[in-house]
Amino acid sequence: MSNMKLNIAGVEFKNPVIAASGTFGFGREYAEYINLNNIGGISVKGLTLEPRQGNPSPRIAETPSGILNSVGLQNPGVHAFVRDEISFLRKFDTKIIVNIAGNTIEEYCEMVSILNDADIDMIELNVSCPNVKKGCLAFGSTPEGVAEITKQVRRECKKPLIVKLTPNVTDIVSIAKAAENEGADAVSLINTLLGMVIDIHTRRPILHNNMGGLSGPAVKPVAVRMVYQVAKSVNIPIIGMGGISNHEDVIEFLLAGATAVMVGTTNFVNPTACTDIVENLESYMRDKHINQLSELIGKVVPY
Ligand SMILES: Cc1cc2nc3c(=O)[nH]c(=O)nc-3n(C[C@H](O)[C@H](O)[C@H](O)COP(=O)(O)O)c2cc1C
Repeated sequence: MSNMKLNIAGVEFKNPVIAASGTFGFGREYAEYINLNNIGGISVKGLTLEPRQGNPSPRIAETPSGILNSVGLQNPGVHAFVRDEISFLRKFDTKIIVNIAGNTIEEYCEMVSILNDADIDMIELNVSCPNVKKGCLAFGSTPEGVAEITKQVRRECKKPLIVKLTPNVTDIVSIAKAAENEGADAVSLINTLLGMVIDIHTRRPILHNNMGGLSGPAVKPVAVRMVYQVAKSVNIPIIGMGGISNHEDVIEFLLAGATAVMVGTTNFVNPTACTDIVENLESYMRDKHINQLSELIGKVVPY
């Protein structure tokens, strides 16, 4: 019998398939389509200290093999999440990862102190947001920026901490190492790739925000490459994502060095994607006589 269990920082997941932040809300809508008990975990929509309305529309554009989004972190705020959503998610036997975002390190720390007392399993730090105190450069764009935010949040945080990396950088390895050195329990990657689409008839960008984040199958080779590079350089677990739409994509990420994966954009195309992937991964492992995920993790054979 194949065993899909895995452990990240003491948190035991029943399988490696986790719904990616921002593509699964707080699980309520998907609970009508799939049995949430059957997925490893849910990373909830990115929360901020105060509620946010998000960006004006249009905020989604279709692209070849992907989508570009500028939702702008629309969310009800961390207090409403704790009050209204945790009890719903806790009805299911799946891990709750809380994705957080902020304008300043102080905001992140305040959210972490609120979440320390909440019944959740892990915190995922979205460092792709602009630091308003540093000229709006994203926290995640430099090793120093990632080191600083990870250090301060780590000091505050009593839950296992995942740092979610942005791919919009030159050297992902130095950034992942900065997170590891300052105490991250795991890194997740990749967030969306900055992109732009222009309507040639109106000569205006399709997105109201002009630019947005690219996700979906189009980004998968970039994501696999980054997971591969990071896996060779850090000792903490990696949660890989970017363009996963089936169990074969998951295996590719595991071979590159991911311990678990997150499944995002494909949920919009097929709301049963996460559980389909779990079932197909289980069959694959059984057929190939693979007993443990560790027989796949990092087992790519490079030239
Ligand atoms: C509409 C949308 C909203 C997203 N919102 C968040 C978010 O709130 N926080 C975050 O860390 N990532 C967010 N992401 C990024 C995804 O979690 C994921 O990193 C990215 O989309 C790559 O995976 P995928 O190709 O499977 O979608 C969002 C992505 C999409 C498409």
